[in-house]
Amino acid sequence: MKKPYEELRSARWFAPDDLRSFGHRSRALQMGYDHADWQGKPVVAIVNTWSDINQCHSHFKQRVEEVKRGVLQAGGFPIELPAISLSEPFVKPTTMLYRNLLAIETEELLRSHPVDGAVLMGGCDKTTPGLLMGAISMGIPCIYLPAGPMLRGNWKGNVLGSGSDSWKYWDERRAGNISQAEWEEIEGGIARSAGTCMVMGTAATMMGIAEALGTTLPGASSIPAVDANHQRMATQCGRRIVDMVWEDLTPAKLFTRKHFENAITVAMAEGCSTNAIIHLVAMSRRAGPECEITLDDFDRFSRKVPVIANVRPSGDKYLMEDFYYAGGMRGLMSRLRDGGLLHLDAMTVNGRTIGENLEGAAVYNDDVIRPLSNPIYNEGALAVLKGNLAPDGCVIKPSACSPELLKHTGPALVFDDYPALKKATDDPDLDVTKDHVLILRNAGPQGGPGMPEWGMVPIPTKLVKQGVRDMMRISDARMSGTSYGACVLHVSPEAYIGGNLALVQTGDTITVDVPARSIHLHVSDEELARRRAAWKQPPKRFERGYGVMFSRHIMQADKGCDFDYLETSYGGPTDEPAI
Ligand code: FES
Ligand code: MG
Repeated sequence: MKKPYEELRSARWFAPDDLRSFGHRSRALQMGYDHADWQGKPVVAIVNTWSDINQCHSHFKQRVEEVKRGVLQAGGFPIELPAISLSEPFVKPTTMLYRNLLAIETEELLRSHPVDGAVLMGGCDKTTPGLLMGAISMGIPCIYLPAGPMLRGNWKGNVLGSGSDSWKYWDERRAGNISQAEWEEIEGGIARSAGTCMVMGTAATMMGIAEALGTTLPGASSIPAVDANHQRMATQCGRRIVDMVWEDLTPAKLFTRKHFENAITVAMAEGCSTNAIIHLVAMSRRAGPECEITLDDFDRFSRKVPVIANVRPSGDKYLMEDFYYAGGMRGLMSRLRDGGLLHLDAMTVNGRTIGENLEGAAVYNDDVIRPLSNPIYNEGALAVLKGNLAPDGCVIKPSACSPELLKHTGPALVFDDYPALKKATDDPDLDVTKDHVLILRNAGPQGGPGMPEWGMVPIPTKLVKQGVRDMMRISDARMSGTSYGACVLHVSPEAYIGGNLALVQTGDTITVDVPARSIHLHVSDEELARRRAAWKQPPKRFERGYGVMFSRHIMQADKGCDFDYLETSYGGPTDEPAI
């Protein structure tokens, strides 16, 4: 059933015979458009997170033209709306501080302008959840255009992976095994094209999740950014969104709990970034109470879904380019379908179900996308631990940590902030052994602030020189999806607001037991109460500006770090603007 033109939002701006609409039309004419450009047509916003300093989205200037071509072909009126870009390496102190700002911006851009549907262009880590969270809350039809991964890195014929290999070779450099000249060669070889990090970091994980949620065209999430297939996909997005407007295929009609369960399943099979938990929880809560997922859901799925994407950092060899050639996300999902792990009746943006979209999907390389019977890791990518050190939970990625550390007891070595940690790392006299548990605190949502990716606490240089490459580490920070190691993250509640993590002292004994899903500080409740009475909150992080709003409203990691007032349940629906 095609929606009548008069019922489109944009018609309220353009159609009436009144003075306001005269203003809208005359101003559109001022830009060189003609009545024929909009009359009887859906207006499609293209929310573009391009910027001159976002390396992952540097192809978006061209892609936006390709989307526009599709919109025009299908009889729509495309308008580009730029949104904050959130380049992972350049935005400080952390892009996580601004994910919710992008979500707000997306929602309000769409609400305040005369638009009927949107193509959302993102990919670099926080842009996928930011754009989707905002679009879900706004509620008009939208389709996600993932930036796609960059090409494989290359150094002297060795494949280089984003992040993972920088950490790895940096350790070798610190150990004195790599020269300055070689280091500069690595610098020039590790990122060779437009597109997101090409390991299974947060970007690839979240783009895959967007596809599992049904918000992208089938197969879209794994196409390399600079592949001509990516250009065609962009144009297809433009064509499809116009039909979605006529069909009124809104997020509310699309999303069910099944979509989010599919997303968790795919996240696990991908060997997902730990950040996926926070973003997916936040997205699900935006989609309404019936869609809401929790840390316990992740743990439940992690026990039944194996990691089958042999892509670094969980895998040992391959990158996203290999994953694409091996069949990509459709290939991976076809394996999950065959194992009965997906809800096949979940609807997607192309108007077909996940099951229908997977018809004909295949895997072309069983080593890159493993059969369920030969996974790279038997259980899922993530484990949720609870205990007196993290009553509301914390997260570890067992597939990326040394097996002997999965069960570990050792003495704590505590750092109250990042500068203290940084200083100690290179101290040759630091009193530390490989059995210590390194703790970084006051690095959570409020304490960080913004929960920076400090969770892969560096191994002290002294130990690196002795050959130590992994240790048990615990923090209320996040870690980059490209990182690896025995890093317990997202401890909730965080230290800054007085979680028990704030009460740990150097020398206390801590046990992390991943198979038992527990984390325990061996200090009595009475002693903890004594320490709590003496505890003082660190100084305020912000006195003015966006940071004040952030500090007042940010929720803890187990709730997805959304602002409380952006949650669907916060109050009544937002009014449409009066025209
Ligand atoms: Fe953009 Fe990694 S820096 S995805
Ligand atoms: Mg990252």
